[in-house]
Amino acid sequence: MTTLAETRPFLKRLFERLDFAPRPIGVQTKHALDHWLTSRRGVAPTFADVVADLRHCGFAFRAVPDARDYEIVIGAKAAAALLGAVADGARLSEAPNRRGAVRLRRLFDEVLRAGEPALVEFTLVAKGRDRAGVELLAAPLALADGTLGAVLGALNIERYETPAPSREPPAQSDEQILLFALGSSRALGERIAHEMGCSLAPHEERRFEDGERKVRPLVGVRDKDVYVLSSLEGETGDSGADKLLRLLFFIGALRDAGAARITAVAPYLCYARKDRRTKPLDPVATRYVAQLLESVGADRIATIDAHNVAAFENAFRIESVALDAQALFARYFAHRLGADPVAVVSPDLGGEKRAELFRQRLETILARPVAKGFMDKHRSMGEITGEIFAGDVAGRAVVILDDLISSGATMARAARACRANGATRIFLAATHALFARDAEAALREAPIEEIVVTDTVAPSQAAALRLRGRLVTLGVETLLAEAIVCLHSGGSIDELLDAGPKGAP
Ligand code: R5P
Repeated sequence: MTTLAETRPFLKRLFERLDFAPRPIGVQTKHALDHWLTSRRGVAPTFADVVADLRHCGFAFRAVPDARDYEIVIGAKAAAALLGAVADGARLSEAPNRRGAVRLRRLFDEVLRAGEPALVEFTLVAKGRDRAGVELLAAPLALADGTLGAVLGALNIERYETPAPSREPPAQSDEQILLFALGSSRALGERIAHEMGCSLAPHEERRFEDGERKVRPLVGVRDKDVYVLSSLEGETGDSGADKLLRLLFFIGALRDAGAARITAVAPYLCYARKDRRTKPLDPVATRYVAQLLESVGADRIATIDAHNVAAFENAFRIESVALDAQALFARYFAHRLGADPVAVVSPDLGGEKRAELFRQRLETILARPVAKGFMDKHRSMGEITGEIFAGDVAGRAVVILDDLISSGATMARAARACRANGATRIFLAATHALFARDAEAALREAPIEEIVVTDTVAPSQAAALRLRGRLVTLGVETLLAEAIVCLHSGGSIDELLDAGPKGAP
């Protein structure tokens, strides 16, 4: 399986999920895959093998030699939901719906390159509002000479209603906003800038021989509303503390250079788990991080799924903005779980509130009851104890929701408890995929169907590879772009989170 975390940026812009080990849910897409598998001879079925049975389930396109284009051989009607009104024989480049045509062309290119069927998911949006979740299957077909040169496809479209957002559509670029992205947050920063219709502001980062650093803006910031994106997870050669220091120094430089307002955007905020004293003389690290940011001149801090929202808000005297990925997860699972009975489980008591809000959200979207459960957990000196499990998970698909996965131990033990209590399918949902050493081993052994995370932290290729087939990554760029625009224009973050980012329920 390939997930979007492992693929190229243009695919991430077109699709929310890409899977080379497809397990379609829709009737049409399932039928098309079965048809492809049963007709297969060698690498792929030939065009002639499948085309007779395409009338009811899909469409077939043939690559136009030397033209980076495809022509519809059969099934124009089935493809019209994506392409607009087209007739058999037409080329993708002639389709009225340009985005739909680009989606198909890019997917067909990937499928012919890989020589395997692929399943993608994305949301069709009309007038800025979600209208439908789309599951699209594409599978390679061989031509008479044995080369792969055609594609079988099928669509499953699930329409759903979304509440009307009470906010303006995302803003265009605004010359008063400057968005910087430090270190490994650059890739996410570029996606956010793209959503905002602007470019990242340039800056310089230097690391000296002794490990000290210098970071400076390469553009004037006087009187500007400045946003600095820096996720603060540790990675090889760059700890969370290194990144925090770099962010602090950069904010100091911006303040010295006359920025009108500085917002630190840390999708993952380090040291947030140590938000209270659990042992005598313990530090309260969250508060010290807050004091550091305030002392260099930050005006505002924004994060996603703070470990404990109340502790986060209390630690800062400057404005603190607690975003969450609930809408992203809810949209994903509403589509993924189909008609299964569902339960949402918190893997510890500290996360119960987060899980309950998510459960309510999912219940609203699915329009049917969603059960709940939670697990006891105590951690001391690295040891996790607590075996009590409460909840109604028997015969249900379970989503275990947490803010982060580090060692994976919390999620793995909750998954085992759910299975022991009769859960039929077990999914993990965690915003921050920290994946510390050994996490993959802990998760690999646990009874987990899928691990759904976001890209708040730069994805670990190694972890993604080792969890091959079970890891799905959802993008947070739209959420962050809309939050920045909203903060800049004085809009309501609460309304943004209620409605969900564009493309979320
Ligand atoms: C703890 O309270 C957090 O919410 C997570 O449950 C925890 O940090 C996960 O850590 P690990 O993956 O190491 O068990």
